[in-house]
Amino acid sequence: GLPARVRIHEVGARDGLQNEKATVPTAVKAEFVRRLAGTGLTTIEATSFVHPKWVPQLADAEELYPAVSDLPVELPVLVPNERGLDRALALGARRVAVFASATESFAKANLNRTVDEALAMFEPVVARAKEQDVHVRGYLSMCFGDPWEGAVPVPQVVRVCRALLDMGCDELSLGDTIGVATPGHVTALIAALTEAGVPVPALGVHFHDTYGQALSNTLAALQQGVATVDASAGGLGGCPYAKSATGNLATEDLVWMLRGLGIDTGVDLGRLVATSVWMAAHLGRPSPSRTVRALSHQ
Ligand code: HMG
Ligand code: MG
Repeated sequence: GLPARVRIHEVGARDGLQNEKATVPTAVKAEFVRRLAGTGLTTIEATSFVHPKWVPQLADAEELYPAVSDLPVELPVLVPNERGLDRALALGARRVAVFASATESFAKANLNRTVDEALAMFEPVVARAKEQDVHVRGYLSMCFGDPWEGAVPVPQVVRVCRALLDMGCDELSLGDTIGVATPGHVTALIAALTEAGVPVPALGVHFHDTYGQALSNTLAALQQGVATVDASAGGLGGCPYAKSATGNLATEDLVWMLRGLGIDTGVDLGRLVATSVWMAAHLGRPSPSRTVRALSHQ
């Protein structure tokens, strides 16, 4: 059956803005996060403590995080290594995320490491975070298809998921980085993870909408009991190190579907649409979300 409640992990300010060609001013980002918190979203990924040359759009993490850290919501941040963790902890972050890859090509492109070298890089990050009772999410990219390697074998994904959980991650987020997944593949992966002893409550899903499948894929995951769904307000997003990645599942589209299914999210859809319209004006182009378009005059 479907879960009674879904926790939305909002990634617009991180996954969305990391992929913008123009760098958004810090004050606008902070206002975006504040408006998102005002919609009832409870988990809002704020930024990344990565190398500023790798993701210049988020190079202002030291300025942004303190500008939003008073908000009464969870504000997870990405940290690839101990340097990133140090930066996040210095600002009082209580939720961090490491980000692994199921494929060698993307591990190299995104982290300058092999899959196993990246896991070794995360190990002390997770251990030190857990020592301080900091919640750790483990992202896994390229769970379905990879732009260089094509379809990704399920056992390859299961292996890295197990490694992330075994090193102490509290939850996983299964990334369809380039948006090529379809519902049958989602069902097969979650079934294989369950068979490998991965508890479904530890799973989240992270779909990009390149082929228009993100909502269908989400429903397939919900039907298997997944209750954490990543989405980005207005459908912002992509990944600078994965060619052909487009925006994430739009949070508005997700909320519209969940509302119709009677699943509680605590999100005020009208306020969320207004936030995305406001952000779209700053970015100078309309939101690609169908729900934003239907419910606004942008
Ligand atoms: P590297 O070049 O191998 O770094 O990059 P290094 O470890 O060799 O260090 C080189 C220099 O960088 C050193 O400085 C470090 O101190 C510095 P030096 O001693 O030479 O002066 N450095 C840092 N500075 C600031 N903050 C740091 C940091 N780390 C090292 N954290 C590295 C390796 C991991 C750093 C780099 O590859 C990187 O930053 N990658 C991040 C890429 C990224 O953010 N991608 C987007 C997020 S993932 C995503 O979007 C997918 C997701 O949405 C899920 C999905 O859709 O699939 C999550
Ligand atoms: Mg992503």
